[in-house]
Amino acid sequence: MTKHEGVPYLDLSKEFNSLKEEWFAMICEDGARGSWILGPNVHAFENEVAEFVGTRHAVGVANGTDALYLSLRALGIGPGDEVITTPYTFFSTSEVIDMVGATPVFVDIEADTFNINPALIESAINSRTRAIIPVHLFGNPVDMTAINAIADRHSLAVVEDAAQAFGAQHDAKRVGSMGTTGCFSFYPTKVLGCYGDGGLLTTNNDEIAEAVRKLRNHGAAAAFQHDEVGMNSRLDEVQAALLRLKLKSLDKNIASRQRIAGLYDDRLSKLEITCPSRPANGSHAFNLYTIRSSKRDAVRQALMDNAIGNSTCYPLPLALQEVYQHLDYTTDDFPVSVALGSEVVSLPVFPDMTEDQVDRVCQVIEQVVV
Ligand SMILES: Cc1ncc(COP(=O)(O)O)c(C=O)c1O
Repeated sequence: MTKHEGVPYLDLSKEFNSLKEEWFAMICEDGARGSWILGPNVHAFENEVAEFVGTRHAVGVANGTDALYLSLRALGIGPGDEVITTPYTFFSTSEVIDMVGATPVFVDIEADTFNINPALIESAINSRTRAIIPVHLFGNPVDMTAINAIADRHSLAVVEDAAQAFGAQHDAKRVGSMGTTGCFSFYPTKVLGCYGDGGLLTTNNDEIAEAVRKLRNHGAAAAFQHDEVGMNSRLDEVQAALLRLKLKSLDKNIASRQRIAGLYDDRLSKLEITCPSRPANGSHAFNLYTIRSSKRDAVRQALMDNAIGNSTCYPLPLALQEVYQHLDYTTDDFPVSVALGSEVVSLPVFPDMTEDQVDRVCQVIEQVVV
């Protein structure tokens, strides 16, 4: 690459070209069978994910938000209930709590992992608390041993938001296998992404799996028999076919992401920059490589001036957003999340990223931070 070439935040073009022939052939088979909805690829993918993640069940749904929403529905969480979660995540995580009529309760995160701080959870639990939603942020697995110990002590459900962390591990277990349910998004930018929207819920609980299978299909136990109000949230057959292909190379792709993260670490840890921490007892899937710098705005400007993709996840903690004004939180409630909001920037990381591209990103940052 030339000295002045930009670097995209994410480039899936090579991947698409390598998969399209096999994927299109699978779509043609679907066409020949006419099996477009909940067809053989959805069923096969559900079985393959259950085996990969290590759960009894995997249920494909339309997107990650629905996986979270349907978890709460299947758990019977609703008005009058409270659910504890992190303010430092994408909005879906807390949005679904309101969607079932319950109230989100936010607790701050750890500065090194960016994940919910287990030490702060217990003081937020009261008689209305029904569940905890930890988020494996940026691909970094939450300490599920600590979360599950708290949940067990207080008889709470745990809904793992693993949207950004497919394949990550804690204590040799895949994320999505340690909570009451695990929720995945296959949005194109995710570690396991499709070319559209998609999602999936994992669980070892037979009743929850059955409830979600019904709820995703209009609450129907059988054709035209509706036990309750559900929704249309089915994983698409065309996307399931692609996801089956991508699942085969997932561990290899995560290893590539980890290698790129290591290359960034080697260069950037020499500067006044905090590189992402690694889990003490697990493996990071590096959906995002997010650094901290007191010169974040200057770093970001330099990246943009040089056409290098980046993002600032997340500038304002959810608890302080307009939509939650009625909950009366203040910045003092979330010192870590608030501080990170002005210090973080996520750099390009994707399996086909080249060493030259990593080098170019680092060169630009080295011009701004010493
Ligand atoms: C942490 C987190 N939770 C939930 C979601 C929702 O997933 P989806 O976009 O598939 O609805 C996302 C996706 O952006 C996410 O990053």
